[in-house]
Amino acid sequence: MTEFKMLLSPMTFRGKVYRNRMIAAPTLFAHSVYFIPDIRENVYCMVERRAEGGFAAVSTGELPANCEEGTTSFVDGPIDYTKFEGEIFEETCEYARRIKSHGAIAYLEFSHEGCMANVEPPYQPWGPVSYTRDDGVQVLGMDEAMMAKVEEDFRRVGEYARKCGFDGVLVHGGHGFLLQQFVSPYFNTRTDEYGGSAENRAKFPKRLLQAVRKGIGEDGILEFRFSAEDGIPGGMTIDDTVEFMRQIDGIPDIVHVSNGLKWRGNHTKTFSSFLDPHGLNAGYAAKVRQALEKSKVSVIGGFNSPELCEEILEKGWADFIEFGRQGFADPSFPNKIRDGQADHIRRCVRCFNCYPGSFEHPTDVPLTERGWTDEQVRTVFNPAAMGRCAINPESGFDLDPRTLPPVVRRGRVLVAGGGAAGLQAALTAVSRGHEVTLVEKSGRLGGIINFTDGDGLKADLRYFKDMLIREVNESKADVRLNTDVTEELLAEVKPDTVIIATGSLPFVPPIPGIGKAEKILDAYAHPEKLGKRVAVAGGGLAGCEFGLFLAEEYGLEISVIEMKDLIAPELYCYYRNALLEHMDAAGIRQYTGTKCLSFDEDGVNVLRDGKEEKILADSVVYSFGMRANDAEADRITACVRAVCPNAAITRVGDAKRARKIVDAVHDGYLAAMEAGTA
Ligand SMILES: Cc1cc2nc3c(=O)[nH]c(=O)nc-3n(C[C@H](O)[C@H](O)[C@H](O)COP(=O)(O)O)c2cc1C
Repeated sequence: MTEFKMLLSPMTFRGKVYRNRMIAAPTLFAHSVYFIPDIRENVYCMVERRAEGGFAAVSTGELPANCEEGTTSFVDGPIDYTKFEGEIFEETCEYARRIKSHGAIAYLEFSHEGCMANVEPPYQPWGPVSYTRDDGVQVLGMDEAMMAKVEEDFRRVGEYARKCGFDGVLVHGGHGFLLQQFVSPYFNTRTDEYGGSAENRAKFPKRLLQAVRKGIGEDGILEFRFSAEDGIPGGMTIDDTVEFMRQIDGIPDIVHVSNGLKWRGNHTKTFSSFLDPHGLNAGYAAKVRQALEKSKVSVIGGFNSPELCEEILEKGWADFIEFGRQGFADPSFPNKIRDGQADHIRRCVRCFNCYPGSFEHPTDVPLTERGWTDEQVRTVFNPAAMGRCAINPESGFDLDPRTLPPVVRRGRVLVAGGGAAGLQAALTAVSRGHEVTLVEKSGRLGGIINFTDGDGLKADLRYFKDMLIREVNESKADVRLNTDVTEELLAEVKPDTVIIATGSLPFVPPIPGIGKAEKILDAYAHPEKLGKRVAVAGGGLAGCEFGLFLAEEYGLEISVIEMKDLIAPELYCYYRNALLEHMDAAGIRQYTGTKCLSFDEDGVNVLRDGKEEKILADSVVYSFGMRANDAEADRITACVRAVCPNAAITRVGDAKRARKIVDAVHDGYLAAMEAGTA
C-alpha cells in the first residue's frame, strides 16, 4: 500500500498548522450566502464537509475587493468591510467557524477583476490603462489616487477576514484579474513607473499584497492565486511570472499557481477537461518554486489522484496541491488517503456538471437559441444549480443530504440491473442498513459504461465504474449475475422495495441498409477491425466521443454525420468546447444538417444542402441515441405486482429515461435513500 508520506506531512507557518499538503480551493462565490438564502446552508455545508474530510485549508469563494469598480458577478448589494457586526458580517464569520471547527485552516478569498470587472454605472472598471472594451465599456487607467484607494480596499478586506475569524486570505490575482493585468505586458502598456520593466510592472501588485498583509496581520496567512501565463499571443508568459515572483518573494506565504484568463475558459489551462492531462500546471509551478526562496508554492489544475499529487510533491515541484472540482467529487479525499482508503476515493471525471462554464466554441449556440425555456436554462446556469457532481450524488447546492428523511424501517431492497444507477442504489441502500440483493441479467456488472474498458479517453470514468463494482462486491449486498427477476426470485427475496435499473437499448431507426452498419457499443469492442475510414452516423455525445477515440487512439479518418444543425446538440459550454476543439484538432469531418438516407457496404448515402451524396467509408457505425428498456422494466413491474403487491417500485437511471451518468448516479442514490423512510 502506498503511504503518501509527502501528501500527509504537516507544515507550520505563522503558528498555523497545515495538517497535510492538500488545500480545498474556492468553488462558489462567498457572497452567495448573503444574496441567495435558498442555498446558504448548502454552501456552508460544502466548505464544512471539505474541512471534515481532512483538507488542511479550505477556502471560501470570492468576495469582491469592493462593491464599486471592483465588484464581481452576483453581488446584489453592498458589502461594508468596515462593519464588524450585522448580518453580512455574521454570515461571513460562519464560514470561518464551520471550517475551523473541523481543524482546517480557514481562508477568505477575494478578488478585484480590474479592467474586466462587470460593473454597473455609475461605476466604471479600472485597469492598468484606459481603453474601450470589446463590449463598449470604457475602462479607466488607474492614477495614484485610484491605486491608493484599491490599496486601502485590499487592506480592509484583510482586516475584515481577520475580524471574521479566518486564519488567512486567498488573494485572487490570477485568471486575468487586476494583479495579473499589471504584470502582463499585454494589458499593461503604461509608460510610467508601473509599466515597462518587470520590476515596474510588479510595483502595484506588490503594494496590494503588502496592504493585505497589513490588514490580515503578522499571524495571518496570505495565499496568493496567480496565473502562470495569460495564454494569448503577446500575453504574460511563465518567464514574466517567474520574474514577478522574484519581486514579491516572501510577501505571500503561499503562491498558488493556476493558469490563464478566466473569460477564455477551457481554451487555457484554468479549467481542464477530461481530454487534458491531470495536474497540467505542475511544470509551471516547478519553475515558480525554483524562483522563490521564502514563499511556498501550491498548484491547481485537474488533480484527482493521490499518486500524481505525491509524485509532484516528491519531485519538489510544489509544497501543496490544490483541489477544485475534486472537492465536489469526494470531500473526504484527504481522510481516505490518511486511512489507507485511497482506493475508495471518487476521482473527479472533469465532466463540468459542477460548473458548466461559458459558450466558447465558434459553433456553440446559447441554450435559449436552441429552444430551451428560461426555466430549463436555470437548471444549469445559476449558483444554486452548480456543484452537482456526476459521481457524487451527495454533492450540489440544490441538495442537502442531511435533510433527506431517515430510515424508519430497515427492509429488503431488490435492485434489478447492475449499471451505474443500480450499483449506486445498492451501495446507498446497504449504507442505510437495508438487506440488499442486486441482480444482473448479464454476466458482468457495469452496464453501458463498460464501453470505457477500451477507451483511453474515458479512463477516469472507467476508474469510477470499476470502483463502484469493487465496492458493491465488497459490500454486504448479495450480488447475483446471470440472474433475471422472476416470480421465483421475488418469492425468495420478498423485497419491500424494488429499484428497477434495467437501462436502455440503442435506438435503431428504419433507415434502409442499417443492418450493414454497426451499433456503437458493439464497435467499441473491436476498433482495430473498422478499417481506415469510419463514418459515424449520429453526432451526439456518444458518436462524437467514439469518433474522437478512433481518431486519437487509432489514427483513423472519421466523418461524423448529424441531422441537426449542431454537432453534439445536447452539450454546451466547457464540455462541448473541449470535445469539439479536440475533434477539430484531430481533423474529424463534421457534417451537420445532413440526413442519412441509406447505408451501403462502402459508406452512407446522405442528403445535404438539398443534394444526395455519398460519404465513403470502410465501415459505418451508428449512434442514434438510447431508449429506456421499457419492455423489461414493465415485465419486472408486473412480476413484482403479482408476487409482492406491497413492495415500492422505482425506476432509476436509463430505465426511467435514457440520460447521462450524472442522472443515473443521482437517481440510484435518491431511490435508495427513499427506501424504508415511510
Ligand atoms: C462550481 C465552481 C465554482 C468556482 N468558484 C470559484 C471562486 O469562487 N473563486 C475562484 O477563484 N475559483 C473558483 N472556481 C475555480 C476553482 O477554484 C479551480 O480553479 C478550478 O476548478 C480548476 O481546478 P480543478 O481542476 O481542481 O477543478 C470554481 C470552480 C467550480 C467548479
